[in-house]
Amino acid sequence: MTTTLALVAELEQLGSEFDGVIAPLVDEQAIRAAQAQFLGKKGRVSEAMKALGKLPPADRPTVGAAANRVKDAITAAVDRKLGELVAAARAADLARTIDVTLPGRPHHSGHLHLLTQVRLEAQAIFAELGFAVAEGPQIETDWHTFEALAIPKDHPARDMQDTFYLSDEIVLRTHTSPVQIRTMQAQRPPIRIIAPGQVYRRDDDPTHSPMFTQIEGLCVDENISFADLKGTLVHFVSRFFGKSLAIRFRPSYFPFVEPGAEVDMACSFCEGRGCRVCKQTGWVEIGGSGMVDPDVFAHVDIDSERYTGFAFGMGLERMAMLRHGVNDIKYYYEGDLRFLGQF
Ligand code: DAH
Repeated sequence: MTTTLALVAELEQLGSEFDGVIAPLVDEQAIRAAQAQFLGKKGRVSEAMKALGKLPPADRPTVGAAANRVKDAITAAVDRKLGELVAAARAADLARTIDVTLPGRPHHSGHLHLLTQVRLEAQAIFAELGFAVAEGPQIETDWHTFEALAIPKDHPARDMQDTFYLSDEIVLRTHTSPVQIRTMQAQRPPIRIIAPGQVYRRDDDPTHSPMFTQIEGLCVDENISFADLKGTLVHFVSRFFGKSLAIRFRPSYFPFVEPGAEVDMACSFCEGRGCRVCKQTGWVEIGGSGMVDPDVFAHVDIDSERYTGFAFGMGLERMAMLRHGVNDIKYYYEGDLRFLGQF
């Protein structure tokens, strides 16, 4: 039979046992679990107190007081232990030394490639003049690339563009001009498009790459004249370079235009005074252009008695080079962040 003295002793024993239980614990969850094990509804203190009913009523306050002391002691031990853990964590934080002189870790943020920026800008500038963007395949038929542009198989102009042939009739397009043909096949005048895109030639040196980017322009309507061509290019150049630069045409030959001309603009570096970029001439070439040849219209069933049109083609790498001073076309494609990050 449990005596009052024995029960008080058991309660005190639980109190000191609890100290031993939580001593090695290092996280709050485990400490709370131990606390519940002793003080919970079905905890060890409650279990011990079940014997209370069998004791003489006169002794019960003594036992009750002992139980309260144990509960208070356990609660205090938990608080003390948790306080120690917090203090230890804070001390560990403070002990960790931070070297504020170490350089920070840089974050690289990506951005559009220079050529993409230039293409989007060109598209936006031509959009101001009502030009929509047109596209065509890079793997193109010989017919769209050459025949329909009045460059038959034995034509000497084919030598101007060293072509990658995939088969007798399929090529990697050597220029964006076939998009003119595809557009005129799909659409009746008035037509006003630009066609930016990649083109391919067997060519490889500091100013030529086997793959590069052109932007083609085509405008077909009644009463389109060479003056419209010039006005369009003058507007583009002044917007793209942010200053008005003179444009001049040098008569030249492209089978799909008549008359045809090479387009020069006043050198954007020296503004026409003469420098290394323009080889002291004051002028830099930016592309080819001309009035759409009636033979081309015949291939796409457009009445050349009623309609006239102009066309032009420019190299985007060259435009970017002239604006940013890029002196080797390879830089565009190497993916070197030291180059790309400058733009
Ligand atoms: N397609 C020509 C080339 O790549 C450039 C060109 C010249 C395009 C005259 C034109 C043009 O539209 O009218 O060399």
